[in-house]
Amino acid sequence: MGLTDRKEKGAVVAVDGPAASGKGTIARALAAHFGLPHMDTGLLYRAVALNLWRWGGDPASEFEALRAADMLSIDPADEELRSEPVSRIASSVSAYPSVRTALLKRQQDFAGQPGGAVLDGRDIGTVIAPSADVKLFVTASPEVRAQRRVRELLERGMPAHYEDVLADIRSRDARDTARAVAPLKPAPDAIILDTSNLDRDAAIAEAIRVVKERLGAKNR
Ligand code: CDP
Repeated sequence: MGLTDRKEKGAVVAVDGPAASGKGTIARALAAHFGLPHMDTGLLYRAVALNLWRWGGDPASEFEALRAADMLSIDPADEELRSEPVSRIASSVSAYPSVRTALLKRQQDFAGQPGGAVLDGRDIGTVIAPSADVKLFVTASPEVRAQRRVRELLERGMPAHYEDVLADIRSRDARDTARAVAPLKPAPDAIILDTSNLDRDAAIAEAIRVVKERLGAKNR
């Protein structure tokens, strides 16, 4: 069986990793390359955070965060989803078990569609799609990730200061890794892709190579 047959069966590719590691860029490129639909699961948590923020809800209240997850509608084009205050609140609300449960089904349905899918997030390979065909864990040093995030924010016309962004990345790493439910950690069978010394194109090329290799190996 070759790669094409695999595609018909629908490969599920899980892409996890910390903030600003490049996992979103890699996941989108993999989806385009392999002709698979893509879900950025971070957007779900960001949408909950944005709802909460707009209502003036309290991120320290799990009950209010859960209310913000109810009837979630998401406009991926909304610039505020990617603002720093919303990123911070997203990191807090994503630690609540009830919020994660509320968002579980739509992610699992997306991963389970017959044509296959690429999902990126923190817990795709460990919780959402533990039997994914390929699991990538994309990472980079906090300093490199902070530089990338600063560039991205400035390009979007948003204010960004390296020291603040680095501190924020470190505290989000700590929260994401330490939380009791679905903490950020590579699945035992994940392939670690460290992009600290790779530019965008090199990281994408390496990810495509690794996924092809994994899918090929599974089909032998
Ligand atoms: O782009 P970045 O990596 O900074 O963030 P994101 O992937 O959009 O995720 C926003 C927040 O949602 C993160 O701080 C994570 O804590 C949380 N998240 C999560 O808990 N589980 C996921 N599957 C995806 C995101």
